[in-house]
Amino acid sequence: MKFVGGTPLATIQTCAQAVAKVIKDFIIKGSPIRIISHYDADGLTSAGILGKALMRAGARFHFSIVEQLEKEHIESFAHGKYELFVFTDLGSGQLDIIQEKILPKANVVVIDHHRPLDINHERLAHINPHFFGFDGSKEASGSSMSYLCATALDSANKDLADLAIVGAVGDRQDSSGALLGLNAQVLKEGEEANAVKAEKDLRLFGRHTHPLHLALSYTIEPYIPEITGNESKCVQFLTDLKILSADKWNRRLIDLNQEEKQRLITSLILKMIEGGSPSELAEGIIGEVYTLLKEEENSELRDAKSFATLLNACGRNHSPSVGLAICLGDRTDVVVEAKKTLKNHRMRLSKSLNWVYQNSEAIHKLQYVQYFHGENHIEENLVGTVTSMAMSSKILNSYKPVVAFAFREDKKVKVSARATRKLVEKGLNLAEALHSAAHAVGGIGGGHDVAAGATIPIGSENQFIKLVEESIKNQMSGHGSS
Ligand code: C5P
Ligand code: ZN
Repeated sequence: MKFVGGTPLATIQTCAQAVAKVIKDFIIKGSPIRIISHYDADGLTSAGILGKALMRAGARFHFSIVEQLEKEHIESFAHGKYELFVFTDLGSGQLDIIQEKILPKANVVVIDHHRPLDINHERLAHINPHFFGFDGSKEASGSSMSYLCATALDSANKDLADLAIVGAVGDRQDSSGALLGLNAQVLKEGEEANAVKAEKDLRLFGRHTHPLHLALSYTIEPYIPEITGNESKCVQFLTDLKILSADKWNRRLIDLNQEEKQRLITSLILKMIEGGSPSELAEGIIGEVYTLLKEEENSELRDAKSFATLLNACGRNHSPSVGLAICLGDRTDVVVEAKKTLKNHRMRLSKSLNWVYQNSEAIHKLQYVQYFHGENHIEENLVGTVTSMAMSSKILNSYKPVVAFAFREDKKVKVSARATRKLVEKGLNLAEALHSAAHAVGGIGGGHDVAAGATIPIGSENQFIKLVEESIKNQMSGHGSS
């Protein structure tokens, strides 16, 4: 599908209507639909939004949630009885495999925001913000794209805007301090539907629900050196700031007055910069925060960042169905289950991060990239989060992108790469670098300019990193291919 002319918002909405029409035709036929989505907060909310929209439309459908879309998955999906496959928050970068394995037999809808391959087919309906002038790494999440299609199916689905905001925050698309582009439009609709409220504040986990020392120690992204995961240091830090005292022990962020909050913000930014965080990450600790007005006041789900943190923990700790159930509206024991999973997730993350801290000699610094191999010390589904967290530490150089490897169970290697927006402004595109290097060594890769991933054969790491270095060198000297 190609749409030309009009404003980016109008043309992307026209495309969403065309996608919705494809889905509607299969609902009317009574064909079962297979939804395949990504396991992180953005993927789970994308699946939740579409699932709710399909449920309301009386469709028959099944979900599959995957860590990433690999050839083997696509092959196994193709064996099923489904006439329509809907991929959300993934698929745009794997259209070549989808074309080869699924399109000969069935119809496909791809609703994604990752860097797309430009493949057309009469049985493919593909919607991606990059085709309409929106940057999929910061202006449109998978969940915003799914919301757009859900509201094109039925405008009554506008109440799902809150879930779309959770997905966008989960993918850190608010890192400039506010939601932008298509995400900002979704926020506006969410506010009109009385589903969300935006205000400026410190962006901590549990700002409504947790005593401040716990909220600080539980904040994973951004990682705050010496604070994240360190409850006793948080108590000391807040006591030194005269925010905590024996008679004011359980204060939450929302209980502070303006002057106390300002004192806390200044000290946190200073602490992050002294601890090695790039200034854009340190400054990103303040900005818009989003309250989900339909959720209970004392619930973690009331704050978009905390909600996203719970979902990410579920997805990355082998419990995607718990996260998905929450997105579909279940507020029973699954929420308790998700909180337990988050506790476990924090422990595992802190173990992996400690390994990086204690093995700084394992970090190799090339001219354009720095990299480390977590081998079996970092779990494959945590390596992306650990890499993001490690970027805020002194042991890495924030002027170079970082690439991390970890062994997978299937004798392949998982790769995660992260960079700062400043580097992207200078020409860096990690999705492009990882896609081409992975392809050259017989793997797959892609993602966004600022955060990308890959899976490559074991033993190809040295060749892969050389190719990434070469590709980034070209990008930074203005010779990149995109
Ligand atoms: O896995 P990780 O968190 O490092 O991935 C970073 C980004 O790259 C995510 O948005 C993920 O969906 C994307 N990715 C991709 N293709 C891959 C691996 C990751 O598009 N093969
Ligand atoms: Zn996403």
